[in-house]
Amino acid sequence: MSGTFAALKISDHVYWVGAIDWALREFHGYLTSRGTTYNAYLILADKITLIDTVKAPFQDEMLSRIASVVEPSRIAYIISNHSEMDHTGCLPEMIELVKPEKVVASVMGVKALQEHFHFRHELVAVKDGESLSLGNMNLQFMETRMLHWPDSMVTYLPEERLLFSQDGFGMHLASSERFDDEISEDILFYEAAKYYANIIMPFAPVVTKALEKLQKIGWSASRIAADHGPIWRSGIAKIIDLYAKWAQRAPTKKAVILYDTMWQSTARMARAIAEGVSSGGATAKVMSLGVSHRSDVATEVLDAGALVVGSPTLNNGLFPTVADGLTYLQGLNPRHLVGAAFGSYGWSGQAVKQIENILNEMKVELVDKGINVRYVPTAENLEECVSLGRRVAEKLKEKCAQPTP
Ligand code: FEO
Repeated sequence: MSGTFAALKISDHVYWVGAIDWALREFHGYLTSRGTTYNAYLILADKITLIDTVKAPFQDEMLSRIASVVEPSRIAYIISNHSEMDHTGCLPEMIELVKPEKVVASVMGVKALQEHFHFRHELVAVKDGESLSLGNMNLQFMETRMLHWPDSMVTYLPEERLLFSQDGFGMHLASSERFDDEISEDILFYEAAKYYANIIMPFAPVVTKALEKLQKIGWSASRIAADHGPIWRSGIAKIIDLYAKWAQRAPTKKAVILYDTMWQSTARMARAIAEGVSSGGATAKVMSLGVSHRSDVATEVLDAGALVVGSPTLNNGLFPTVADGLTYLQGLNPRHLVGAAFGSYGWSGQAVKQIENILNEMKVELVDKGINVRYVPTAENLEECVSLGRRVAEKLKEKCAQPTP
């Protein structure tokens, strides 16, 4: 098994033994343009311990990296911080192969693993705040329920000040570099933001509480080893601050104008609204769902204060790409947005009302009644769109002047 892939030492007794998925482009609805990594970590303590595993097709790569350091059958404990199958896909085979003394997960993690894999092997549940002795080192566990599954927990190795944060602080980024400071900051923080927007955003209140809890516990990590992407060592304070900021969702003067179009009428309206937003003193980001992926839209919405959505009416309803984009965004639960709806139609014109209904369900504060244009917008219609954009900008400026909710 050894030979092809090598482990990488990331602290005195800890090795990265994960796998790089250069070709991944889809992760449950998320466009992973730069691939990903599935990170697993090997602790060479008295009780040799594996933290998380990898997606099933990458088991050989992980085993090869482990074998470059130690015979895999010497692994005594496997810790599963998160049950999603990109981290547990090969866990059943690993248990068969290694026959560890203990497989450890949170209380909810044990249930989730049993429900996924129907193990005959007994699993050990650890509670929030519990520790596990590895002989010469210790592991401490903190539950992070709903970050981003009910089973999620993080594990701390105090002797090496290493926090194994599972999906938290991760990103989908395949690279040959393993540390944050080896990667261009533009790519690093864009991918971290994209990951937060698409995976973590629905759980913003839980993020705030988890960050407070981490501070209270007083763990002082010099490395944050997430389950995807590079290991944080230089940018720890910055990524923690960003998570706090993203979770808070303070108002900004940026409007995302999202639309698709059949014969360019809705597109022209989108551009006119953007003109109003920018002439009103705010930033406009116009995104056609015909060419923009829903997960890139979510990334733009992360630091936006307004969401303005347009659709033609097609067969009495929303244009399919708009329905897709709105369904996805609604699931991500972005808060504190203002917005509006617009669109064009031939003879029925239900799309604008349908958008407004969805925006209401998303608790988006509508700044005005939607604009619905028959067939092709006139100069007056486009002027109305400019005015709508200006009202959005005014509202954003007003919100920015108020204390943060
Ligand atoms: Fe990377 Fe939630 O799994």
